[in-house]
Amino acid sequence: MRLGFIGTGTITAHMVRGLKASALAEWPIVLSSRNEAVAAELALLPRVTVAASNQAVVDACDLLILAVRPQVAEAVIRPLAIPPTRPVVSLIAGLHIATLADWTGAQDICRAIPLPFVERHQGVTPVFPPQPAAMQIFAALGTALPVHDLAAYDAYAAGSALMGSYFGLLEKACAWMVAQGLSEADAARYLRGLFGSLGDVLREKPAALAQLREDHSTKGGLNEMIFQRFVQGGGGAAMEAALTAAFNRVQGWA
Ligand SMILES: NC(=O)c1ccc[n+]([C@@H]2O[C@H](COP(=O)([O-])OP(=O)(O)OC[C@H]3O[C@@H](n4cnc5c(N)ncnc54)[C@H](OP(=O)(O)O)[C@@H]3O)[C@@H](O)[C@H]2O)c1
Repeated sequence: MRLGFIGTGTITAHMVRGLKASALAEWPIVLSSRNEAVAAELALLPRVTVAASNQAVVDACDLLILAVRPQVAEAVIRPLAIPPTRPVVSLIAGLHIATLADWTGAQDICRAIPLPFVERHQGVTPVFPPQPAAMQIFAALGTALPVHDLAAYDAYAAGSALMGSYFGLLEKACAWMVAQGLSEADAARYLRGLFGSLGDVLREKPAALAQLREDHSTKGGLNEMIFQRFVQGGGGAAMEAALTAAFNRVQGWA
């Protein structure tokens, strides 16, 4: 299957590198020319080419992947002539299928939320609805999660936006440790090791999250105390409010 990407930026680069190291490595890929530097670098990979125009990407592919930013989506996508039966996978946050269908006339549209980890085949990618070719692609890049309704998909989208907060939490903890006299390098090394190991636990142990918290919190100990203080101080409520805001934002977009 020939894959066409419109929008050759961060997420396209991760997907293309991941695909070229996957079971689907033989599938030809055609890229749009923007971003020029990213496209030129990816074109060094086998069976990856750069098309002369966005329409040329559409014309050269069997499955079209849309990966431009939401702000430019309409201006980029509306002018394209897409055959109605051509499968389209949109990665564009918040852009509804009905809107895309209205812009393009395409009838086989699905949405997906790949994250940078697809490059290492460790992506867990929600696909809504679970269009077979998209499921095959994201299964090759890790795990493809079939999603059957919009609210569930938008809940995944809100959850996917926690990446910045994860690092932000570590940033805050690191700054606090530095304020106690540690060097930034020592504090960061400690936190990287600690949270890297916790990431391994998450991946490897299927226990419920509350169970993992308890397993890592001695009764009456410091871990238990910090989590209680965090919740009492409004940390849990702030997280819920932020997720709700992200959910409302993706639901409210066109
Ligand atoms: N990054 C992620 O982890 C992630 C995850 C899931 C979904 N997404 C979604 O994927 C989309 C792309 O995100 P991104 O992070 O990859 O953004 P990005 O790095 O900014 O990539 C967007 C690309 O679109 C190109 N572009 C702009 N105008 C264009 C045009 N007229 N024709 C063709 N290409 C054009 C840009 O080129 P120039 O640089 O030349 O402007 C850029 O290469 C967004 O809608 C985002 O919501 C991203």
